[in-house]
Amino acid sequence: MEKTWWKESVVYQIYPRSFCDSNGDGIGDLNGITGKLEYLKELGIDVIWLSPVYQSPNDDNGYDISDYKAIMEEFGTMEDYDRMLFRAHSLGIKIMMDLVVNHTSDEHAWFVESRKSKDNPYRDYYIWRDGKNGKEPNNWGSCFGGSAWKYDEGSGQYFLHLFSPKQPDLNWDNQKVRKEVFDMMNWWCEKGIDGFRMDVISLISKKPDFQDGEVGQSGYGDPGCANGPHVHEYLQEMNRKVLSKYDLITVGECSGVTVEEAKKYASSEGTELNMVFQFEHVDLDGGESFKWNHNKIRLPELKAVMSKWQTELAGKAWNSLYWCNHDQPRMLSRIGNDSPKYRERSAKLLGTCLHMMQGTPYIYQGEELGMTNYPFTSMEEFRDIESINAYYELTEKGIIAPEEMFDYISYKGRDNARTPMQWDDSSYAGFTSGTPWIAVNPNYKEINAKEQMEREDSVFHYYQKLIRLRKEYEIIVYGDYELLLPDSRELYVYTRSYEGQKLLVVCNFTEKEIVWEIPQDLKGCVGRVLISNYGRDTLEESVTLAAYECAAVLY
Ligand code: GLC
Ligand code: CA
Repeated sequence: MEKTWWKESVVYQIYPRSFCDSNGDGIGDLNGITGKLEYLKELGIDVIWLSPVYQSPNDDNGYDISDYKAIMEEFGTMEDYDRMLFRAHSLGIKIMMDLVVNHTSDEHAWFVESRKSKDNPYRDYYIWRDGKNGKEPNNWGSCFGGSAWKYDEGSGQYFLHLFSPKQPDLNWDNQKVRKEVFDMMNWWCEKGIDGFRMDVISLISKKPDFQDGEVGQSGYGDPGCANGPHVHEYLQEMNRKVLSKYDLITVGECSGVTVEEAKKYASSEGTELNMVFQFEHVDLDGGESFKWNHNKIRLPELKAVMSKWQTELAGKAWNSLYWCNHDQPRMLSRIGNDSPKYRERSAKLLGTCLHMMQGTPYIYQGEELGMTNYPFTSMEEFRDIESINAYYELTEKGIIAPEEMFDYISYKGRDNARTPMQWDDSSYAGFTSGTPWIAVNPNYKEINAKEQMEREDSVFHYYQKLIRLRKEYEIIVYGDYELLLPDSRELYVYTRSYEGQKLLVVCNFTEKEIVWEIPQDLKGCVGRVLISNYGRDTLEESVTLAAYECAAVLY
């Protein structure tokens, strides 16, 4: 297997709006990030994935871009950006930009032109269709509720938006669009950025026939645009015209990706991207009404999915490893235990379980502190277009009762991850001196960076150690993965093997004590505990694991 720096890196995701506010307007900004680079250096991460900082009317918090070469005013200026980039580089930290090119904002100059008339030179930059019998061109639903088509009075046609009506989809079949996107990417690369996280990149090549999709609970059809007919061709073109010219880290956010598809997107041949974000593990608790439910992810299923990705991509492609991001509720509140008694131990367990696998780990801001879901009490507290739209659409149609739907969005909604980063125990957790755009989690007095940096056994220091171990032991990066006890509902146990060494990773996902016999081939060997969340320095042949205990042992 080829050794590369991006396989050996740990990425930290910043959601700029919620990271650190430097000027008291309640909104995180670039100077706020620059001021916290030392903190990230201390944690030990290598790369920052920066959620979008481009000019945007913020219908979807920056994932609706109106100018790819300008900085969102609320976040600062291009000079602020350059200073941040320079400062990050001087600390040895790379910056990965969020590339949102499945769609633009409807306020982007291309769309403003495009909607002017049917014969505007930019018309074909987007996807326009005539209606069918006075209705939408087909039954496709948008990810944020309602139809995926919006009628434009002025020019008399519908345009496609797989997300909000303020996020019209670009027409990637138009080579001019591809050229514009590649030129823009080259412009950022010339500025010295280090990579791209590509937003919903699996959706760029639409189903050519525009046939109706299978109708779901909401009454709309599934567009089924994931992994479309030309997606690999377009990414290969992007690779030839941009990516291959620089030494970048690239990850494609690929909803609907299977292991078979991932082997193409992230092939070790290097013809497309370095790795993808797959969704199978975070979709395990999905159901009829998308993610809006109280379903629990069951451990045997989680292990089966994680292990499938570990073994199927081995030697052929490369994995990304993540529990959390700005679209997922806090994993600690989802598959861990966020009660005061077990919160820290459980956060450390989740970190160990993920970071000892093969792939590039991603840490979402606050995960390194064991931040939790937010205790929502009213609809007014929500900011996210997805949660708000879903709530009104499903309750107004009488599909889900309001109280029930409120519980679901409180548990699974994206705002759980978007509450401000908890820096210290001063007002608003030290995030802002003004009023934050979204409420701070009231547990900031107990959970905050300052307290954890001062305390040796904190989640912060534990993550710091996980990152350091990855740099010290090649087995953690390159070792082969094997799952043990696939059916256990309590333990997640796996091994990694590399050049005659073996790493054993044991995680008790429950509140119960569990007695476990270590595998036959390791009996009699003396193992060295690399990390433990229970102060353990040996693993007996028959070991009693405490609640949420984990350990990684090298033989
Ligand atoms: C991706 C982003 C998400 C955004 C959507 C539309 O899934 O991660 O935050 O809402 O794409 O751009
Ligand atoms: Ca600000």
